[in-house]
Amino acid sequence: MSIKHKLTLMTMGISLAAVLLTVTAITSYLIYDMRASKLAEVAVTASLTGDRNTAAVAFMDNARARSNLDIFRQNPSIRAACIYDARGKIFSGYEADKTIGAIKCPSATRLIPDGIDNMLTAKRTIHQKDEILGSLFMVADTREIDAFVHKIIMIAGTAALMVFIVTLLLTVYFQRTISGPILELAATAHAITQHRDYTLAARTGYSDETDVLARAFNAMLGEVHKRDRELMDANENLEYNVQERTRELQAAKKKAEEASDAKSEFLRNMSHEFRTPLHAIVSLASYGLKEHNSALPGQISQYFELIQKSSERLSRLVNEVLDLARLEQGEHMFLLQRGDMRELLQRSEELVRTMLAEKNLSIRYDQEASIAPIVCDHDKIVQVVTNLLGNAIKFSPQDGTITLHTSMLIENGAPVMEVSVIDEGVGIPKGEEKLIFDSFRQSSRTNTGAGGTGLGLAICRNIIRAHSGHIHASNNANGSGTCVIFVIPATMPEGSRVVHMQSTEGKHENAA
Ligand SMILES: Nc1ncnc2c1ncn2[C@@H]1O[C@H](COP(=O)(O)OP(=O)(O)O)[C@@H](O)[C@H]1O
Ligand SMILES: [Mg+2]
Repeated sequence: MSIKHKLTLMTMGISLAAVLLTVTAITSYLIYDMRASKLAEVAVTASLTGDRNTAAVAFMDNARARSNLDIFRQNPSIRAACIYDARGKIFSGYEADKTIGAIKCPSATRLIPDGIDNMLTAKRTIHQKDEILGSLFMVADTREIDAFVHKIIMIAGTAALMVFIVTLLLTVYFQRTISGPILELAATAHAITQHRDYTLAARTGYSDETDVLARAFNAMLGEVHKRDRELMDANENLEYNVQERTRELQAAKKKAEEASDAKSEFLRNMSHEFRTPLHAIVSLASYGLKEHNSALPGQISQYFELIQKSSERLSRLVNEVLDLARLEQGEHMFLLQRGDMRELLQRSEELVRTMLAEKNLSIRYDQEASIAPIVCDHDKIVQVVTNLLGNAIKFSPQDGTITLHTSMLIENGAPVMEVSVIDEGVGIPKGEEKLIFDSFRQSSRTNTGAGGTGLGLAICRNIIRAHSGHIHASNNANGSGTCVIFVIPATMPEGSRVVHMQSTEGKHENAA
């Protein structure tokens, strides 16, 4: 049942009970009062009638008594008046009109006439001084009382009906002020659960507790809406994070696969690189052993020369691998000394002289006039330049020129020395300029499997980073050949220092 109907029913029930109780109480009292006063009236009339008939009874004047009693014809409610003598025998009597139902006076006082239940009766003695002369008995009907009761019930009923109607109207009007807001709140709640729309809100601004309820409901809705949004955001974030992590994992996987491929390639190259000189040494040595008696002296020394060359190549290879392993895996001792870069470049040129000659290549020095001495680990910088020259030679065409450019610059407010090794060779494919510095990496243009370990540039980068510098490669502006540039600070404190290399790709830190 709706709260609206419950309220109406409750109010109507209470007011109906109150009206009925009140009306019943008042009506009962009025009826009781009316009956009591009528009874008193009959008693008084009986006393007066007795007094008036004293003489008639004393003188046995029957006619006078009758005429005295006849006065009751004026009062139709008196139905009978009976006078008895001293012995209790009927002396005279008045009986009302037969049309309204006659009540006969009984022949003796002690007899009770028929049909007087509910009627009003009174009995009096008639006496003179102390002598009892007779008695009087009177009966009056309750017609007036009945009419009164009828009237009063009509009035009470009408009043109760009017009260009922007015109460109903007032209840219908007032219950709306209580049930209206609650019904509205219920409708909003229903709409929210049906459409799952938490942006809806209940109406506020009522002057009672409903307002508190509506505001609390809205606050709760706001909270639910907020949580909803947060949940959605979290979901979206989660999705985004998962995608991001997946991407990262895929990238890491790709990197790991690349590293693994590079290592496999490295192992292939390594075995090739090791096998070629080893094979040469072994076969030349057994050849020499077999033929040392019959061979010409010049032939034997040629074998030894070739064995020496192969051994040197082998030891260079072993050194390179060990160098990188040492540089990448732990602390490395650097001896920083003041020196002239030109001198270091010339030392490097000296080391690759035979290779240059083999391809008939020439070196051009392009050095600014104001080159100051520099502090660095001489042997390590020579190693770097030798590696770079080695590459330049390896990838240069016959009879070309390799340029060694040196200049002083200011970088981040500090003086630096820049050294470039520029060749006229095959160049580096676009997008691989950084990649070739990774260990075991060769550019897609030169990884023919014919040689090289891909370690030279990785070693160079480690050494340059240990000097707090940087190194990078690019293609020459004219479109042919490579330019590899390294930059190191010009002013470093002299002395030996231990450098802890974290990894080829990672950062490094210096310790005095
Ligand atoms: N001057 C250059 N011209 C063209 N490619 C070069 C040059 N220097 C280096 N590279 C590329 O970088 C790769 C890595 O060089 P490096 O680390 O010295 O290894 P390696 O010389 O053993 O191959 C080379 O294999 C080559 O592909
Ligand atoms: Mg190399």
